[in-house]
Amino acid sequence: MKTLVKNGHIVTATDDYHADVLIVDGVIEHIGRHLTVEADRVIDAQGLLVLPGGIDAHTHFDMPFGGTMSSDDFLTGTRAAAFGGTTTVVDFAIQQRGHSVQEAFENWQAKAEGKATIDYGFHMILSEATPDILRDMQTMVDQGVTSFKMFTAYPGVFMVDDGGIFRALQRAGEIGGLIAMHAENGSVIDVLVEQALSRGETAPKYHALTRPPEAEAEATHRAIVLAKLAESPLYIVHLSAYHALEEVTDARDQGQLVFAETCPQYLFLSYDNYEEPGFDGAKYVMSPPLRPKEHQERLWQGLRTDDLQVVSTDHCPFCMKDQKILGQDNFAKIPNGAPGVETRMSLIYDGGVATHRISLNRFVEITATTPAKLFGMFPKKGTIAVGSDADLVLFDPEGLTTWSVNTAHMRVDYNPYEGRQTAGAIRMVLSRGEVVVDGPTFLGREGRGQFLKRHTFSNP
Ligand code: URP
Ligand code: ZN
Ligand code: ZN
Repeated sequence: MKTLVKNGHIVTATDDYHADVLIVDGVIEHIGRHLTVEADRVIDAQGLLVLPGGIDAHTHFDMPFGGTMSSDDFLTGTRAAAFGGTTTVVDFAIQQRGHSVQEAFENWQAKAEGKATIDYGFHMILSEATPDILRDMQTMVDQGVTSFKMFTAYPGVFMVDDGGIFRALQRAGEIGGLIAMHAENGSVIDVLVEQALSRGETAPKYHALTRPPEAEAEATHRAIVLAKLAESPLYIVHLSAYHALEEVTDARDQGQLVFAETCPQYLFLSYDNYEEPGFDGAKYVMSPPLRPKEHQERLWQGLRTDDLQVVSTDHCPFCMKDQKILGQDNFAKIPNGAPGVETRMSLIYDGGVATHRISLNRFVEITATTPAKLFGMFPKKGTIAVGSDADLVLFDPEGLTTWSVNTAHMRVDYNPYEGRQTAGAIRMVLSRGEVVVDGPTFLGREGRGQFLKRHTFSNP
């Protein structure tokens, strides 16, 4: 199958030029000016940006959490991702205590196979660091699961003590793995939650008030020190506050291999959202929580200066009607998480490129290229180059997109960005050369997504 994308304005993390792209059997075969090749399909990209498909390195599809399941599965979640210009996701498989990582891996394969409409990889959540788990990290790496999420939060569920985290960091360093850390001081937060509830403070906003930025900064600092002692790289997930960013910046300035992602919710939403009427603040209950507005510009600055390298979503949707409501009388029972897999690319283009905070190249870098490099998928994914998968987004910089729960494709009953307009519009999305999104129409086949066996960590 040959597809020719003609007259596009190609942008990668480093390049910006006009050319045609010839795709043969899903792979970019040739890039050049005025290509005269017979093709089965010719797509005219005149006036459109041709961007590498987005990579969302942090999703939770079909995930048991907070007494319920995240509401998108691998079909609805990857379909929404594709509509939003994301062609690769890395989801989190969960090793439950007392169970093996192999079981978790097979469990997540079963969730994704036959459903995913775009390509996907897995990180592995380690809920404990027993000798068996530490040993089996190697078998995960052998199977292409080369990153492991650990938590300093959620005592009794996911939290592992410092010794366990240190052992896992050492092991990851030995075998080419990367530890992705959820950094919040869970023990302190539990005390604050208990004290708030005992004062009768049950509304959603107390979720934020009991998870202060200092609790994130302390755990970020601790994880960085443990990684230094273990001589291992470290990736901080969903960084939300400038306090934590300062920790990452200091470590990077000292030459340590520390990387961090933030998410659109921390750049566009704020503590004020918890003050929305009634129970609406529950829409934004996630961990870490939304911060006061003044954090936002500091995070944008971090993205500009490469102290933050990635924007992913932490997409973990729960419906207000029958899921968030579990915490109606107690904020600590509101399932933690929010939707975002579909809105990420448009929001970052709008708040980043259209408002001149970052360049178009940098936009591609933080939404596609660096996640591909950090998580062992480059150059198959994350760029437009001969030999790379033809994962492409045809983006109209003159368009305008209005976001609403009524038009978005995520399986959830609200949109945190309801009514927001973003500059630009996604016109077409190709995954391995197949048009999966054409305007408002989804053309991707259920189950066409392929598992990505990722490479070991290398410094991007
Ligand atoms: O609130 C959040 N972030 N939910 C998803 C799970 C996690 O910690 O990433
Ligand atoms: Zn987390
Ligand atoms: Zn997450």
